[in-house]
Amino acid sequence: MCGIFAYLNYLTPKSRQQVLDLLLQGLKRLEYRGYDSTGVAIDGASAGDDILLVRRIGKVKVLEDAIGELCRGEAFNQPVDIHIGIAHTRWATHGVPSEVNSHPQRSDVENSFVVVHNGIITNYKDVKTLLEKRGYVFESETDTEVIAKLVHHLWQTHPGYTFGELVEQAIQQLEGAFAIAFKSKHFPGECVASRRGSPLLVGIKAKTKLATDHVPILYAKAHRPHGQPFPVLQAGSDGSAEFQPLEHKEVEYFFASDASAVIEHTNRVIYLEDDDVAAVKRDGTLSIHRLNKCTDDPHIREIITLKMEIQQIMKGNYDYFMLKEIFEQPESVVNTMRGRVRFDTQTIVLGGIKEYIPEIKRCRRLMLIACGTSYHSAVATRQLLEELTELPVMVELASDFLDRNTPIFRDDVCFFISQSGETADTLMSLRYCKQRGALIVGVTNTVGSSICRESNCGVHINAGPEIGVASTKAYTSQFISLVMFALVMSEDRLSLQQRRQEIIAGLSQLDEHIRSVLKLNSQVQELAKELYQHKSLLIMGRGFNFATCLEGALKVKELTYMHSEGILAGELKHGPLALVDDEMPVLMIVTRDPVYTKCMNALQQVTSRKGRPILICEENDTETMSFSTRSLQIPRTVDCLQGILTVIPLQLLSYHIAVLRGCDVDCPRNLAKSVTVE
Ligand code: F6R
Repeated sequence: MCGIFAYLNYLTPKSRQQVLDLLLQGLKRLEYRGYDSTGVAIDGASAGDDILLVRRIGKVKVLEDAIGELCRGEAFNQPVDIHIGIAHTRWATHGVPSEVNSHPQRSDVENSFVVVHNGIITNYKDVKTLLEKRGYVFESETDTEVIAKLVHHLWQTHPGYTFGELVEQAIQQLEGAFAIAFKSKHFPGECVASRRGSPLLVGIKAKTKLATDHVPILYAKAHRPHGQPFPVLQAGSDGSAEFQPLEHKEVEYFFASDASAVIEHTNRVIYLEDDDVAAVKRDGTLSIHRLNKCTDDPHIREIITLKMEIQQIMKGNYDYFMLKEIFEQPESVVNTMRGRVRFDTQTIVLGGIKEYIPEIKRCRRLMLIACGTSYHSAVATRQLLEELTELPVMVELASDFLDRNTPIFRDDVCFFISQSGETADTLMSLRYCKQRGALIVGVTNTVGSSICRESNCGVHINAGPEIGVASTKAYTSQFISLVMFALVMSEDRLSLQQRRQEIIAGLSQLDEHIRSVLKLNSQVQELAKELYQHKSLLIMGRGFNFATCLEGALKVKELTYMHSEGILAGELKHGPLALVDDEMPVLMIVTRDPVYTKCMNALQQVTSRKGRPILICEENDTETMSFSTRSLQIPRTVDCLQGILTVIPLQLLSYHIAVLRGCDVDCPRNLAKSVTVE
């Protein structure tokens, strides 16, 4: 999805060249989100110049080269005390990738107001018609252009408004989802940003310690007397508190759609809430405005300290983030369990949901709602959840769940699983269930994300930043988080103690087991050489390994653009068997679990149609291996954790096939890391 990065230096002199370097670096950090065009806006080189816009189709590198050509000369090397630059990576939704459709979008040919935008303005056609009637001529096919022109129109009609007030007014007219950041030649050195339904944070880097750890919110008075300048502001919950914007000499502000773009500059950030308007004025003060007071609003926005390290978002010695993230799994699974699973006492504590456990135990059913890979983690753990909670467990794809207007009740407990915590379909489903009174449990990897904030309680999976668009370590950590939840739910069930012990023992060996599976890497690479020119790959299994088939096939599709299908082995004879012959590549997962005999039946059905399956099976299982010439052997673990081990060879396989086919591993075509549109 699109990425926003804006940088404001206040009394911290920087040349325009340095600003451009910072903006480009910010965009590079956001590349993983997926995009097709880029752009920046900075002040023109000499006083009185219009804002300079540079936009290009393609990668940040193309923009960098264009900037290298266009932004040369002494003027770009002169330090400037106060300056604001905005930058964007666009993932096309309205209009093809083109320069004119790229962001920043502008209000007029003089670039009076320029804006970068993530999300979709659903009523842009109405706003556009209105503005066209006022004489505005549109140049792009984007929904975003209406935002720039609307602010320009408000500026013309309300000359007394501050920049923040203009944006505040504009967002009242907008429907849909957005994160926006503005720059204007009429408000030099000022930046205004806002969000609704799309994430946005402000990073703050000050030379000396900040005097406060929060920014109070300014509210516009609900009933503004007609004709009064807008807005009349009051601070705090009762309007009596002294309002002090965040004030600091020599400060730098970073506006970004995610933390990975700011972490190398500062770890002090404010996550904006929906409808917050954050404004940095010419005097360097940051304030946050809201038009309406909502009852549960804390009236401040806290400055939080991110725990993320820059190394976590660097590739290190790996060629791709995805490969690094696959190899991080021995550590990431331990991080998910850290401080939660006590192997000595065989107890599990999930701090984020502890207090809600009695309520969850009384519920009518558990619903697990998610998209893509996150959905597969729900499929992978459903059977164990049913077994250990003895509750009905429904697993839902968020988009389908919404399409069906699914009945939800107050005594339902709904889990929303999302690596990014921002996936629009999942977030919409969350709001749908919340409105109907269900208990909302978030399972995310992103602190401060919308799903995190809007849940009643939750589990942070602690997998660390995942940059590769294809999800790998987040999947195994989501899997473990749900297993831990099942274990918590069964803590006081005598009849389940032996089963729990077996699972906890499995968890304690998981990192070592994953290390053994990762040793298969070169064997998997050889296999990839055999498969990469094929058109299709079928992946079969059942029981605890069915989710691995779905997840493996998704990885193959998204990374290699090759067709792949995860097939429930029990369904083979109901159709898919017709695909099997001596040409069709088939991968089968056969482990010694309760459905082993049934899997062996499926294996025989495949071999008797001349199929030549590649097996993923347990170490030294000679009986199973006798059915194939090629097998990948994984360590034995408890049945319900086997899926964590069986998925890793498929993550590696999709990676190697993608490399051999020359695909962009970290940014597959047409895909985005955080899908913030429905
Ligand atoms: C596939 C993949 C996607 C995401 C899906 C949901 O590798 O990453 O299928 O799992 O878009 O994203 P989150 O988990 O961020 O809600």
